[in-house]
Amino acid sequence: QRADRLDASRLTVQKRTMTSHPAPAHRGLLLSFEGIDGSGKSTQISLLTHALRQRGHSVSVYREPGGTPLSEKIRDLLLDPAYEPDPVTEILLFSAARSELAARRILPDLEAGHVVILDRFFDSTTAYQGYGNGVLGEQALESIHRLAAHALVPGITFYLRIPIQHALRRLAAQEKDRIESKDEAFFSRVVEGYEQLARRHRRFIPLDALAPVEQIHGEILSHATRLLTSA
Ligand code: TYD
Repeated sequence: QRADRLDASRLTVQKRTMTSHPAPAHRGLLLSFEGIDGSGKSTQISLLTHALRQRGHSVSVYREPGGTPLSEKIRDLLLDPAYEPDPVTEILLFSAARSELAARRILPDLEAGHVVILDRFFDSTTAYQGYGNGVLGEQALESIHRLAAHALVPGITFYLRIPIQHALRRLAAQEKDRIESKDEAFFSRVVEGYEQLARRHRRFIPLDALAPVEQIHGEILSHATRLLTSA
């Protein structure tokens, strides 16, 4: 089983090292959540975390960019309106934060058998920087993602789909960071990016973010349970 098979329902860790020792397969499960700002990811992540813990699973939750002290520092730089990084620099900073999280937290947790839930992963970079900013071709991005994610690929990516107008309305009430402050045209390109990813990769599960919270949670839990019980 290749770690870079994007439709793999179970993932295998293939650690990128200078030597050729294959890393042991682990029993952990990696799940990611994607969607534009204001799509309700955080609510669904808390519900899923709670439900899985109640069933006795060890669950780790990380947000991107962030999750380690260094990655949180990089997050501050990325979201600070005082800087407007060059688009390639921006991709590399998100990727640097990701590599740190993958190496220091996600890989060890998976090896310990945890369910690891990610609030965003490399698909956010494809959608926001690749499509939103319109930089770098797909192949270049995929190579960077493989490097930064240490070849990890989520078993399932829950994609919360929401009309842009709704998301922008939800966001309007809050204080916005640098990326949330971008215009509607930017977010339309981000959505187009997510839609392309959802068409291309079987690991993507699109969900209607306007459905009742409990209904969305039920769908998410049943998909997660299916993966956890298919050994
Ligand atoms: P997020 O933590 O989801 O925002 P918040 O907690 O404020 O709701 O993500 C921060 C912002 O970074 C968000 O606007 C999306 C953006 N982002 C990218 O542009 N590229 C990426 O690769 C990631 C992970 C996030």
